[in-house]
Amino acid sequence: MSRFWNKLVATLDPYVPGEQPRIQNLVKLNTNEHPYGPSPKVLAAIAAHTNDSLRLYPDPTALVLRQAIAKRFALTPEHVFVGNGSDEVLGHAFHALLKQDAPVWFPDITYSFYPVYCGLYQIKFRAIPLDDNFKIAVKDYLPGAATGASGGIIFPNPNAPTGCANPLAEVEQIIAANPEIVVVVDEAYVDFGAQTAATLIEKYPNLLVVHTLSKSRSLAGLRVGYALGHPDLIQGLDRVKNSFNSYPLDNLALAGATAAIEDEAYFEARFGWSESEYSYFVIAFQGFYAFGLLSFGGVIDKIGIDAVLADMRARGEKV
Ligand SMILES: Cc1ncc(COP(=O)(O)O)c(C=O)c1O
Repeated sequence: MSRFWNKLVATLDPYVPGEQPRIQNLVKLNTNEHPYGPSPKVLAAIAAHTNDSLRLYPDPTALVLRQAIAKRFALTPEHVFVGNGSDEVLGHAFHALLKQDAPVWFPDITYSFYPVYCGLYQIKFRAIPLDDNFKIAVKDYLPGAATGASGGIIFPNPNAPTGCANPLAEVEQIIAANPEIVVVVDEAYVDFGAQTAATLIEKYPNLLVVHTLSKSRSLAGLRVGYALGHPDLIQGLDRVKNSFNSYPLDNLALAGATAAIEDEAYFEARFGWSESEYSYFVIAFQGFYAFGLLSFGGVIDKIGIDAVLADMRARGEKV
């Protein structure tokens, strides 16, 4: 506490990032990073851009990266916004789109950064309980489900930390039933067990889908996330971004992220793991988010947890 802080800063309850211990051979479970490194093409692209051109500012519009992302989702670059990790993208979404007169709605067990953004941007929120199976119940997100209107809706699919995914048809029900407010679907873990709502972008102008390169693309250290949505929503995010930091992605992040998005073969191969490899990943998720239990539990059951742990110990990993 300092007498120089303004009143808002004194009231903040900031997010506490997961610890990043520097211990050799540690199997790190706490922040859901990928157990494998990024595509060799990503490393080559970063190396190729590590030169005198770093004296120049990066492209503030990140056009090449936005083009690559747009191509992957059969959209246009005007449908794509990029930021310094999806945390930054989500922060701008709260600021630009979810800050309304009525409270934003999100699940009461969910990504713990959401209430933090609400504190920073002074946004009212309503935390909606999960059902008895720890799932998001669609009926609770329909207009009239609670007293008072909703100013916007945000939820991860799959949800974190529960690991439960809602089928695309249920996600669509929530979006379709709330045409007057923005629905943000945070798909940080979509590649591990859910259907993306990106296919609905052209149908619903109130839908924003947020992705990260930190998890399935093995690039948590590069800090790149993006949002897909109607160009009107993207322009709103751009207005906030350009009132805050015009160059959130540096030259190396732009080069590496573009290579990652373009290397579909490497991405697919990482999801075609052997059973044993897959199991290590399951364990990583079990450690913090209980993901494996819910999404890939069958793989662990098949091999047997003791066999997997013995194998990991034999490889010198501390488990
Ligand atoms: C649900 C969810 N959304 C977003 C993020 C942020 O990811 P990043 O800022 O690394 O893109 C995380 C990180 O763990 C997460 O769990």
